[in-house]
Amino acid sequence: MTNMKRVSFLPPLLLPLFGLAFATFAAGDDQFIFSGFTQSSLALDGGAVVTQGGLLDMSNGTNNIKSHALYPTPLRFRNSSGGKVQSFSATIVFCIVGAYPGVSANGLAFFIAPSKNFSDAQLTQYFGILKPNNNDNLFVIEVDTFQNPDMQDINDNHIGIDINSVLSLQSHEAGFYEDSSGVFKNLTLNAQIELQLWVDYEEEETRINVTLAPLHMGKPSRPLLSAAYDLSAVLTDTAYIGFSSTAEIMNTRHYVLGWSFGMNGQAAPSIDISKLPKVPRLRQRAQSKLLAIILPIATAALIISVGTVVILMVRRRRRYSEVREDWEGEFGPHRFSYKDLFQATQGFKSKNLVGAGGFGEVYKGVLRLSKKEIAVKKMSHESRQGMKEFITEVVSIGKLRHRNLVQLLGYCRRKGELMLVYDYMSNGSLDKYIHYQEDDKPTLNWAQRFQVIKGIATGLLYLHEKWEKVVIHRDIKASNVLLDDEMNGRLGDFGLARLYDHGADPQSTHMVGTMGYLAPELVRTGKASPRTDVYAFGMFLLEVTCGQKPMKQDAEGNQVFLVDWVLEHWNNRLLSKTVDARLQGDYGVDEACLVLKIGLLCMHPFPGSRPSMREVTQYLDGETPLPELKTTQLSVDMQGLMQDNGFNTSVMSYPQLMSSFGAVSDLSGGR
Ligand SMILES: Nc1ncnc2c1ncn2[C@@H]1O[C@H](COP(=O)(O)OP(=O)(O)OP(=O)(O)O)[C@@H](O)[C@H]1O
Ligand SMILES: *[C@@H]1O[C@H](CO)[C@@H](O)[C@H](O)[C@H]1NC(C)=O
Ligand SMILES: *[C@@H]1O[C@H](CO)[C@@H](O)[C@H](O)[C@H]1NC(C)=O
Ligand SMILES: *[C@@H]1O[C@H](CO)[C@@H](O)[C@H](O)[C@H]1NC(C)=O
Ligand SMILES: *[C@@H]1O[C@H](CO)[C@@H](O)[C@H](O)[C@H]1NC(C)=O
Ligand SMILES: *[C@@H]1O[C@H](CO)[C@@H](O)[C@H](O)[C@H]1NC(C)=O
Ligand SMILES: [Mg+2]
Repeated sequence: MTNMKRVSFLPPLLLPLFGLAFATFAAGDDQFIFSGFTQSSLALDGGAVVTQGGLLDMSNGTNNIKSHALYPTPLRFRNSSGGKVQSFSATIVFCIVGAYPGVSANGLAFFIAPSKNFSDAQLTQYFGILKPNNNDNLFVIEVDTFQNPDMQDINDNHIGIDINSVLSLQSHEAGFYEDSSGVFKNLTLNAQIELQLWVDYEEEETRINVTLAPLHMGKPSRPLLSAAYDLSAVLTDTAYIGFSSTAEIMNTRHYVLGWSFGMNGQAAPSIDISKLPKVPRLRQRAQSKLLAIILPIATAALIISVGTVVILMVRRRRRYSEVREDWEGEFGPHRFSYKDLFQATQGFKSKNLVGAGGFGEVYKGVLRLSKKEIAVKKMSHESRQGMKEFITEVVSIGKLRHRNLVQLLGYCRRKGELMLVYDYMSNGSLDKYIHYQEDDKPTLNWAQRFQVIKGIATGLLYLHEKWEKVVIHRDIKASNVLLDDEMNGRLGDFGLARLYDHGADPQSTHMVGTMGYLAPELVRTGKASPRTDVYAFGMFLLEVTCGQKPMKQDAEGNQVFLVDWVLEHWNNRLLSKTVDARLQGDYGVDEACLVLKIGLLCMHPFPGSRPSMREVTQYLDGETPLPELKTTQLSVDMQGLMQDNGFNTSVMSYPQLMSSFGAVSDLSGGR
């Protein structure tokens, strides 16, 4: 990027023609400027080169070599022979790049010399231009980065004015005087910093000023060096100007980026910084600067990410933490990891919540690996007491396989939480099909209801009799009957009540079940038996056939008990009137009445008078005819029971017993 200006002689249009023609740099209004040296025709020798980027590189790293770069033609410093040396000024942008920070080497010099012949100059020192003595007509501004005792250098970082001698006329620590404060600020020459140097000579004043500043700062008004010296006694009429340097052992680079010169009334043009070439090592500096910025950020980012990972891991550990006790070892295969359940239910998201009961919430989930659909029942359970017994039972129950039971797959424990994992029943629980708004069409016809009833009876029979030990369900009701894909009834939640029933003590009020389904002796003694299951099953039969809840409020706000109501209709020989009206008569009357009668029989107040589940299935299948029931007898029995227990039957009919004991049940935390 050469920019040659011959300002006063030629109109601008002709400038290009003369762009490279320097031959006649005559005395007069002359100036030139180089912003980079790409197209300059500098006379180079030694190791001096102009790089591709346009930098003048005064030292290419080779040892023992002196390098010069000269303006190609000599300049006329005097108007007339014997006259005074006229004023001149030079501006130089340079940059010294040391191979190793803090290691100094010889510097760079700007000179005015009588010839291009520097064969006498030393190879290794004195900037490749000075001789130790007998120099003639030589004016040198030294940019010295090496403390040379021969030169009586003040330090290894100074600027000096040398006239015909290696001993400086004047020198100063590199730096500048700040305009605002007048305070001296030193600069390090050998620090990959682009610096600007101004050399001014004034003819009248016969004064040499040398000023240094960082590139982006303007010229300070106070020069670094200011020496009164008449160069008329030094310079020849015509002389060469240029730079010199000795190549360095340290591979220190002396770059000149820009140069302007002016004389005879023309000041050196100021150098446009934006047009200057870039110093290659500066990129490294920029990189290291960048590194200085990036490194802390990267470190911080690393620390933050490591911290985050640790926190996440801790949270994850905590999130997926479980309670596991030694005795659980044997149940390993039935144990689910919380993480799997958490992922299956998408973190127990509320959109996966399928329902909530007395023990906890039920979430739908899909196991990640097997894609199997599961229902996770999540219960809060603080007490460890009875946990082992319960888990043992859960696991043993898990071994139960029956087409009318909801398969229990396993469990998982966390602090204060217990989760049971079941097969997911796509059609939900039966209660949703039989309790709905009056005017809705039934979603379950009689045939389906009968099939469900028979299925549940078979399932309960399996629990009571077909398994190696008797399993009492304890919580039979419509919401615990689930429907599989084929609308088969499957009994769920078996044995669960056991968890809340520590009732080895008959006096215990830890009675569990659901109001309306509780057999009277269960209310009295808190002791569950297969017969209390049969009682609840009876209630279930009435519920399904009549499509009504065990208890409801009548128009006057009195509680009406389904069993009372059915019994009353039976007494009045209107049993079929109790069948769910929403079936619109579309049912087998015999079947429906059979189911109702079995239901009432199952709800016999005396446990011994209730049929077993085996008998119930036989009645349902029609294998055994239902024993002839005396409705009045049943009523009398029921009433008798009331009296036995000191109840005033005229005020309180039997099932109300339930509600009065319901408080007890509620206290137990069960249903
Ligand atoms: N295995 C399952 N598959 C699909 N849905 C289920 C499953 N188990 C339970 N549900 C649904 O979750 C709901 C809540 O069940 P949950 O057992 O917690 O309460 P409940 O049966 O109403 O009362 P209880 O706590 O006395 O059993 C049920 O009504 C049912 O709709
Ligand atoms: C430096 O310059 C000299 C002379 O031109 C040359 O012989 C040498 O190979 C150069 N060294 C490098 C590293 O370019
Ligand atoms: C040198 O010559 C120029 C014109 O060529 C003139 O303007 C200037 O004054 C002269 N300087 C001296 C010192 O004679
Ligand atoms: C350079 O100067 C030296 C002595 O100072 C001389 O021997 C030599 O011939 C000169 N070289 C040229 C090219 O003039
Ligand atoms: C400036 O010079 C003084 C004295 O020579 C020195 O103590 C100081 O470290 C220098 N500062 C810099 C930035 O070079
Ligand atoms: C040199 O510096 C002195 C002091 O700042 C100033 O008075 C003088 O004009 C300067 N001379 C030149 C040629 O810049
Ligand atoms: Mg349930």
